[in-house]
Amino acid sequence: MAAIRVNNAVKRFGNVMALQHVTLEVDSGQTVAILGPNGAGKTTLIDMLVGLSRLTSGNIEVLGHVMPKESRRVRERIGLCLQSTAFFPRLTVRETLSLYQHFFTRRRSVDELLDWVQLTEKASEPVSKLSGGQQQRVALAAALVNDPEVLFLDEPTTGLDPQARRDIWDLVEMSRQHGRTVILTTHYMEEARHLADRVIILDRGRVVADGAPNALIRQYAPNRVVRVSGDHLESLEKLGWNPVAGASGHEWQRPLEDHDQSLESLLAAARQSGAHVQRVSIQESSLEDVFLHLTGRSLSA
Ligand SMILES: Nc1ncnc2c1ncn2[C@@H]1O[C@H](COP(=O)(O)OP(=O)(O)O)[C@@H](O)[C@H]1O
Ligand SMILES: [Mg+2]
Repeated sequence: MAAIRVNNAVKRFGNVMALQHVTLEVDSGQTVAILGPNGAGKTTLIDMLVGLSRLTSGNIEVLGHVMPKESRRVRERIGLCLQSTAFFPRLTVRETLSLYQHFFTRRRSVDELLDWVQLTEKASEPVSKLSGGQQQRVALAAALVNDPEVLFLDEPTTGLDPQARRDIWDLVEMSRQHGRTVILTTHYMEEARHLADRVIILDRGRVVADGAPNALIRQYAPNRVVRVSGDHLESLEKLGWNPVAGASGHEWQRPLEDHDQSLESLLAAARQSGAHVQRVSIQESSLEDVFLHLTGRSLSA
């Protein structure tokens, strides 16, 4: 059964079209990353999915219920972690999770949740004393209080350091292994690639691509890039290489296309032209390249 159905969703804020005819379906048990730059419409989409706001036109069903009309019935079965969570600063971690429990009839024990997000030792600390990464784990525990069938995470790792980000990734991975449906938004392409079975690229309110991360890369950015460094590399120009920006002529690159005979023959030709190649590396394409191909802009811009 589809966990989520979005049909021709449009959301307008005055002159801004935050969502433009978005249609998608998510199967139960999928982990989906909605990837897009700031302002793409990610938060707007999540808000509509969880019934926090109403579409201008189109319709949304979550777990077979029409949103936002039936959102009260859906809330019991979903978990939500918004872009920023305002906790009561003086409540302890344990008190905070106990408070969240009261919203639901289906409940996990606070001890189980603390263990799950590895905050057992911090249970008696006020939330305000925790680091950003720990606070985000409290937010995730709060989203898991009712053992939700569908988990919505809006930019769960934005602003966190790499270790805290990894910790959140592990928790998302656990939910996925428990067969939950996970919908997360992110503007980090490594996050989408690492966590998701499926990536939906959103740009200016439109879905511009939808598929498994590797399938998107194969479809839109199939070429790997060979990069060399060394001296006397100018002679590479006539062989189709380009200087790498900012490397003052000591690094050059070119696409490694499937129909090129081999890396060895490329390098042999380079040497023959007079280039002194000292180091060679191959750069795999990424979802960043997919985004660039589809929109002409960089994801991080
Ligand atoms: N409440 C609002 N009022 C007016 N414009 C809004 C509102 N919420 C979002 N927008 C606009 O809608 C677009 C999408 O925003 P948002 O969904 O927050 O993007 P993202 O989460 O991908 O960064 C942006 O242009 C934003 O300025
Ligand atoms: Mg957002």
